[in-house]
Amino acid sequence: MPLPRVRKAVIPAAGYGTRFLPISKAVPKEMLPLVDKPVIQYVVEEAVASGITDILMVISRSKRAIEEHFAPAADLEMELEAKGRTAELEQLRELQSLARIHFVWQPKMGGLGDAVKYAKTFAGDEPFALLLGDTVVTTPDGKPVTRQLCDVVEQHGGSCVALQEVSEDKVSRYGIMGGEPVQPNVIRATQFVEKPKPAEAPSRLAVSARYVLSASIFDFLDRTPKGKGGELQLTDAMAAMMQAESLFGLRYDGQRHDIGNKLDFIKANVHFGLQREDIGGALRDWLKALT
Ligand code: G1P
Repeated sequence: MPLPRVRKAVIPAAGYGTRFLPISKAVPKEMLPLVDKPVIQYVVEEAVASGITDILMVISRSKRAIEEHFAPAADLEMELEAKGRTAELEQLRELQSLARIHFVWQPKMGGLGDAVKYAKTFAGDEPFALLLGDTVVTTPDGKPVTRQLCDVVEQHGGSCVALQEVSEDKVSRYGIMGGEPVQPNVIRATQFVEKPKPAEAPSRLAVSARYVLSASIFDFLDRTPKGKGGELQLTDAMAAMMQAESLFGLRYDGQRHDIGNKLDFIKANVHFGLQREDIGGALRDWLKALT
């Protein structure tokens, strides 16, 4: 029987964003702009470019701006049409037609594992992509990392996470995976630990904000006790799942822009600004003059 295609994605975006206060008190960090598009739109576009048709966003009280951004805006469309602003109208229509977008509320911040639990009904028994809503990932050839993870799962079954090598002093910030190579850049996980001390890390391969998960994850989340930081850790549930079914790690070639981090946010704006036809040249000249 052929393995199912991955059609659904979950984007957790409920967290407080404490690393980005004071702006994140009322503006969700996922709504911070990279030039003129909010971070979460880049994440949605990556999912759509990976073949995803349905997206569930897990949100909380202060995140209504995310709903607003993806809500239909017939009045604004009429206004733009009447004024002949076709380019802006086109952008708005494109945004609206990206995917079917659904929302669910996470009442209490209980960790990434807790956020994923709210996707159980949405996912049903299908594998689904999980994209952290505050992180944009770019690749040199433009093939989305989520698509690359889907390729592994659609070929081998099980689950797959995106991995990037980090320096030893940073392993304690990430989920770290150890395993055996199965094909170039893909390992089968044998160890998976959330934020280990450097001496206890099975490798320096860190989970990098993108996953494709088998629907069995929900059973393992139900049985997993709270872990690091008193939160339900997705990594712990995946480590248990790894004993029962395949868990792969794909080491990708690309760049992770963690928008919850102020310096990365500014660098990401420069990165995306430089690629823009309208402002790239002027920005490059300005940067050159700075140095
Ligand atoms: C989460 C995950 C961690 C992963 C990281 C980056 O941690 O728990 O395993 O490596 O995202 O994708 P957080 O940054 O939410 O503490």
